[in-house]
Amino acid sequence: MGQSVTLTGWVQTRRDHGGLIFIDLRDRYGLTQIVFRPQITHQTFEAAKSLRSEFVVSVTGKVAARPQDMLNASLPTGSIELEVQMMDILTKADTPPFAIDDDAAINEDIRLKYRYLDLRRPKMQRNLMLRHRAAQIVRSYYDRNGFIEVETPVLMKSTPEGARDFLVPSRFQPGKFYALPQSPQTYKQILMVAGFDRYVQIVKCFRDEDQRADRQLEFTQIDVEMSFADEDDIVVMTEGCIVELFHEILAVDLKPPFRRMTYTEAMEQYGSDKPDLRFGLELAVVSSAVRDSGFRVFSDTVKGGGVVAALRIPEQAEMTRNQIDMLTDRAKALGVGGLVWARVRPDQVECSISKFLGPEGTQALVKAAGASPGDLVLVVSGQWQKALTILGTLRLEIAERLKLISDGSWEFLWVTDFPLLEMSEEEKRYVAVHHPFTAPKPEDVRLLETEPLKARARAYDLVLNGNEVAGGSIRIFDSTLQSKMFSLLGIGAEEARAKFGFMLDAFKYGAPPHGGIAYGFDRLIMLMTGCTSIRDVIAFPKTSGGLSLMDESPSTVDEQQLKELHVRITPS
Ligand code: AMO
Repeated sequence: MGQSVTLTGWVQTRRDHGGLIFIDLRDRYGLTQIVFRPQITHQTFEAAKSLRSEFVVSVTGKVAARPQDMLNASLPTGSIELEVQMMDILTKADTPPFAIDDDAAINEDIRLKYRYLDLRRPKMQRNLMLRHRAAQIVRSYYDRNGFIEVETPVLMKSTPEGARDFLVPSRFQPGKFYALPQSPQTYKQILMVAGFDRYVQIVKCFRDEDQRADRQLEFTQIDVEMSFADEDDIVVMTEGCIVELFHEILAVDLKPPFRRMTYTEAMEQYGSDKPDLRFGLELAVVSSAVRDSGFRVFSDTVKGGGVVAALRIPEQAEMTRNQIDMLTDRAKALGVGGLVWARVRPDQVECSISKFLGPEGTQALVKAAGASPGDLVLVVSGQWQKALTILGTLRLEIAERLKLISDGSWEFLWVTDFPLLEMSEEEKRYVAVHHPFTAPKPEDVRLLETEPLKARARAYDLVLNGNEVAGGSIRIFDSTLQSKMFSLLGIGAEEARAKFGFMLDAFKYGAPPHGGIAYGFDRLIMLMTGCTSIRDVIAFPKTSGGLSLMDESPSTVDEQQLKELHVRITPS
């Protein structure tokens, strides 16, 4: 109070009040009320009249207490104002296409086109500042724990993370391409062989895959690798980092160890490999209760190796027929043949297939679903993963509709024991669920010879409120086992040599046992800021069509550039 200060920033609003002019001056630190009194020079007062939103000004004056009736408790600067003595208009501004205001509903394409204006909004500034803080905390945490940050190349050999690569043609080597890293997976493993036993990197990764609210073509990982480490070492180190982030940034004290659940449990209880545990609505496998029932669809499914699973929805026995029909349509759209339902009433159960099951069969189904009077039970059948996933999707949609998901709770969960391999229907071969360097559980190695699909991986995902925020594994460090894995994946010796020869070579010279994890940094920050899209925590994201609307990339390039790169465009 009473000090003479200079403030610089953007004009948020101007108000003329009986001879006084007020502006709210905005910068990254917030808003300050500036007052121009007629006593100041005529020139400055006239200049104040010309101010418009987003003009950039420098104002010098005295900090004064606001009159009692103008106090604003909701602003940190709400008890003071700056009485201007001098002002410089540093730049004028065109009228912006939208108000720089958190409450304004603005079309996202417009926001992305004028990203520099969108980023002026306080919420976006808070998001990026929180992201910055989080990055500092992560670096300091890993540094204190003996990790060193090593930068790995952006122009590299293709990595097998399962998505499509972005390719960069080489000018020096006609017809050859670099790939942008889907992750630094191979490099971080090589760094372990090189003796850097604790590696971390906050790193950009590139994957040419379909965009979603939680996926971008380029995104950031906190990438970690440790030598002489097992699952628990990685888990404990990761939990420590998450606990520190939540404590420092959100003042939330999480209590490790986080819950753990196997993949099979997660699928059978929640119909998802990334279950949202903020609400109940658990599934139940009811196969044995209907195996010998008179309902052929169910009994045939069970006998054919499939699953029959139920979702119990408490207190919804009286859901309208219309709503149940809508759920049935939804289930069919998701890919099951139909949806069986049962309304559990105190005296009887009304079930859509009671004429096949009979009263006893119906009771057995309801009992297996764990239902009690007042509950609605939905049942689907089909191939294990498909049927459970569909029921898991219904579980989420119903929870949203019934508003069962509580805001402000943080449900962390480790999902473990993923299958090592899955069958790619498209390619008609096994593909690695995580990546080809993930080790099988020692007790499952023998299954690689007999029933490879039953082998479990030493892989783990960290899930937060239904989002996969990190994933990693203990790696294969034995070149014989690695070759075996490649051959299971249909990668012949020659192809393995061409693609990963450098790794196989490196592993011949003394590879330590090692494992690691990568956090999706954008996803974590999205959840910590309460956003629903990672685009809101990335300064310059792409649209779902992969476009950067501000700078209009991707764009065409001139003939000469293409020529130098030995690239010719053929019309598709
Ligand atoms: P993974 O492929 O599981 O593992 O990726 C790790 C984490 O990165 C995040 N993520 C993404 N975030 C935004 N947009 C995307 N397109 C995207 N894809 C993935 C997810 C995911 O959990 N190299 C291994 C890690 C390891 O084994 O150490 C890897 O990249 O939150």
